[in-house]
Amino acid sequence: MNEPNQPSTSLAAMTPRVRAAWYVLALSEELGKKPLRKILFEVPIVLFRGASGAVGALVDRCPHRSVPLSFGEVVGETLQCGYHGWRFERGGRCTAVPGLDGEADVPARCATRYEVREQQGFIWVWGDPATQPVGEPFHFRCADDPAYLTVRRAVPAPGAVHSVIENALDVPHTAFLHRGLFRSDGKRRPITCRVRRFHDRVECEFIGEARPEGLAGRILSPTGGMVTHFDRFYLPSITEVEYRIGEENHVMLNGACTPVSDFDTIVYACVSVRTRLPKWLVKAVVQPLAMYIFRQDAEILTLQTETFHRFGEARYVSTDVDLLGAHILRLMHRAARGEAGDPTAAPYEREVTMWV
Ligand code: FES
Ligand SMILES: [Fe+2]
Repeated sequence: MNEPNQPSTSLAAMTPRVRAAWYVLALSEELGKKPLRKILFEVPIVLFRGASGAVGALVDRCPHRSVPLSFGEVVGETLQCGYHGWRFERGGRCTAVPGLDGEADVPARCATRYEVREQQGFIWVWGDPATQPVGEPFHFRCADDPAYLTVRRAVPAPGAVHSVIENALDVPHTAFLHRGLFRSDGKRRPITCRVRRFHDRVECEFIGEARPEGLAGRILSPTGGMVTHFDRFYLPSITEVEYRIGEENHVMLNGACTPVSDFDTIVYACVSVRTRLPKWLVKAVVQPLAMYIFRQDAEILTLQTETFHRFGEARYVSTDVDLLGAHILRLMHRAARGEAGDPTAAPYEREVTMWV
């Protein structure tokens, strides 16, 4: 449905698929002895951990009779199908066909495999099994530092990956949807927002922001003070919110957003906090608060996605304070077309005043 004189955006334009990139498919702790089925871009993928601990990722479909390999079990370094017992090693080669008098390993019997990396408590796969990985997965800056409390979680986010990313990095909604938790809609002050877009990422630096008055800010810095705040997006789908309040308090909120399908995402959150407060206290207070905030965002994403589908298109009118969404979409579209961008080009820069 098109409303008169209203610009609209096709749903396809809202859902670029950047396949040739690293995506988190699981938390390391999720993958034990049993194979684990996950979905990326609507393709089921089975993860399995061999006896040595190394992780394999195969399309979850046995080449023999199309049974999900996740129905099978791990045997040594291989994954054994639950139907006739064919075995596959991490590279996808078929190493055993029970009952067959002859060579098991012929090309037609190979399972399609994904490149895998396991680092910092996450299992990553390269999203396009037809291409070789370029570079390594994103590195979470503070997750290995013992001075920080780091929490990892998989959080369902019922929306398109772009909507989820924009939501995670969107400041104006915090005073409304999360009223009282970060910011309030009471007396607002102007701050400067400096946006910089590079070939593979875009960030916004918030200058002149006082400590948010809401509960989350008060817990982190009871005495107030000025805040250093950056919101960042890295291709293909990493969000990063960084806060420093005073010398001692540093919060890194990362989300690796994994597209299950065009309108369904899982956020693999990696949150690192360094503060004067004891770690148990941070965990006891911040974790439930974060989950409460996630639920509020998930509800909005559900409603937004339903509205996309009901109208068959999106209305997306932006103003200056929608700081990053359009830049993120632009970077995603370019990456989806396979264009790398120019790393030597000067960044695009813009300053905006926002009342927070
Ligand atoms: S279907 Fe997998 S071995 Fe036959
Ligand atoms: Fe939010």
